[in-house]
Amino acid sequence: MTDTAKLSIAGSDHDYPVMSGTVGPDVVDIRKLYAQTGAFTYDPGFTSTASCQSKLTYIDGDEGVLLHRGYAIGDLAENSTFMEVAYLLLNDELPKKGELEQFETTITRHTMLHEQLAMFYRGFRRDAHPMAIMCGVVGALSAFYHDSTDIHDPTQRMIASHRLIAKMPTIAAMAYKYSVGQPFLYPDNSLSYTGNFLRMTFGVPAEAYEVDPVIEKALDRIFILHADHEQNASTSTVRLAGSSGANPFACIAAGIACLWGPAHGGANEAALNMLHEIGTVDRIPEFIARAKDKNDPFRLMGFGHRVYKNYDPRATVMQKTVREVFAAMKVSDPVFDVALKLEELALSDPYFVEKKLFPNVDFYSGVILSAIGFPTSMFTALFALARTVGWVAQWNEMITDPDQKIGRPRQLYNGPAERTYVPVGQR
Ligand code: SDX
Repeated sequence: MTDTAKLSIAGSDHDYPVMSGTVGPDVVDIRKLYAQTGAFTYDPGFTSTASCQSKLTYIDGDEGVLLHRGYAIGDLAENSTFMEVAYLLLNDELPKKGELEQFETTITRHTMLHEQLAMFYRGFRRDAHPMAIMCGVVGALSAFYHDSTDIHDPTQRMIASHRLIAKMPTIAAMAYKYSVGQPFLYPDNSLSYTGNFLRMTFGVPAEAYEVDPVIEKALDRIFILHADHEQNASTSTVRLAGSSGANPFACIAAGIACLWGPAHGGANEAALNMLHEIGTVDRIPEFIARAKDKNDPFRLMGFGHRVYKNYDPRATVMQKTVREVFAAMKVSDPVFDVALKLEELALSDPYFVEKKLFPNVDFYSGVILSAIGFPTSMFTALFALARTVGWVAQWNEMITDPDQKIGRPRQLYNGPAERTYVPVGQR
């Protein structure tokens, strides 16, 4: 039995069907609201709006739960690989052994870039932000791969999906190499997805590069943590771009642009910069006070979340991974101690407790990425590399959703009513 929501507006009553999912909040289907009432809903930031139906990822923000096709992020981070999670998000089920091997081979075979794209990098300044390069180069892919831009052809959609997932590590590694003035390295098909990325990033033609299995596993786990996350800002950007029929490369470039913002994927870079600015544990209270000050735009980067009103389960895994990598590398970093103390003090402060502000995925990620050797400027590029899997899976789901049409929100207009034009000489 479908429940209904009743709305009384302008003297008339209307019923709207309430739809239930597998788990999580019900939704009120208001698709007929404007036609029946002449009114729009108002929800800037979409805090109470479901934009689609999806089977990919579910977040319970109060419980700090994150599921990908029903599998808990902690289980996947502990037991799976990024390639297996990519397969899971692109298909309905975890792959059998042969399916996974076939998928990995397919992705591996798409990791090379068209040779002329390498020249694209030469147009950038050496100090160009890697995200500026990612936006440009990924958008340019549509100029090279015309044979996989027909979004109505499932085969072309899958080839474009595989190309995007496969080429992001190559594009990101090349952005790093260009920034440090080192030559690009071609992909090495004998390596894993993540091992290949590490070699293209930190290897040099002058000598062999040995992938450190501890780093490879830690980075692969970090990619898993960033793979997908419901209808976050950049995923919604990809879906909106895709709803117009734009080609997949353009849609992912749009997602990269949105992810760059410090309130979203740019927070991992901003969080580590903040931890360095704090510098020592004794300066933490000063920054907590600033974060609480309404007149100060400063926010604790890596803290808070639109959906999680509990601990981000990804942050839990991230913190554990920092400890594991530090132990394996026999390193430490005073910034990690600052982060741990900042978390402790913030989570015991009524401001953060009342507003349910907890560390999110970005709070610890910079500490470990820095320990692995990535410059801060590469952090969001790594987030984009991993989130491409989610963007591509969500894009495919949107294209095949019969309910989906071009996204076109309305507004509450509060500008001037119609008025007569006055020639400039009479103003
Ligand atoms: C990601 O959506 C996703 O799923 C994103 C993501 C993904 O995987 O795709 O999880 C990745 O983007 C993680 C979030 C990374 N961003 C940051 O760490 C930047 C710092 N955090 C904030 O800017 C903020 O918490 C947001 C943007 C993440 C969430 O903002 P909301 O949901 O719009 O909440 P809000 O801004 O309305 O804040 C609610 C209150 C406000 O106070 P009041 O106006 O109610 O008095 O909490 C305060 C805010 O001022 N607040 C903070 C804070 N975050 C929120 N105060 C201090 N420090 C913070 N970090």
